[in-house]
Amino acid sequence: MMYEFDIDQHGGKAELYADMAAALAALTADEPDAIANMANAAALIWEYLPDLNWAGFYRAIDDELVLGPFQGKTACIRIAFGQGVCGTAAATREPQCIADVHAFPGHIACDAASASELVMPIVHEGRLIGVLDLDSPVAGRFDAADVTGCAELVAVLGPRIAG
Ligand code: SME
Repeated sequence: MMYEFDIDQHGGKAELYADMAAALAALTADEPDAIANMANAAALIWEYLPDLNWAGFYRAIDDELVLGPFQGKTACIRIAFGQGVCGTAAATREPQCIADVHAFPGHIACDAASASELVMPIVHEGRLIGVLDLDSPVAGRFDAADVTGCAELVAVLGPRIAG
């Protein structure tokens, strides 16, 4: 199965994310395995969103985030709820769109190249499943359209990784 996306050939981010959400729905439709679905989701995001240096998942396990499938450099494995950008998204269940990670108290620098970050909590039927974490070497890379788009992606993915 091939998906051809190019941000320049889309009407903009909204259209790109809508196409990605449709592709993600198709990719995960017949697969019950959460790890497989997160792995393909990370690859899809990595391939089609420009200017990322990390894209992947942390899973909520016993009040802690544990590294899941991702693309990019090796990352820290366990993050306590409330710690760093990912832990804050998990604790508050609110998206964290951080233009300058160096100004974020407690930011965990897995890759010194990261300048901005978007973390989207994944909640299914009231339960926190984990977070989607995107990092960029470009300051201010993420905007409201990315927040809305990532919310769409996790709305598709949540039921397919809930177990
Ligand atoms: N920077 C993140 C840690 C995860 S890595 O960037 C992959 C944070 O502060 O939560």
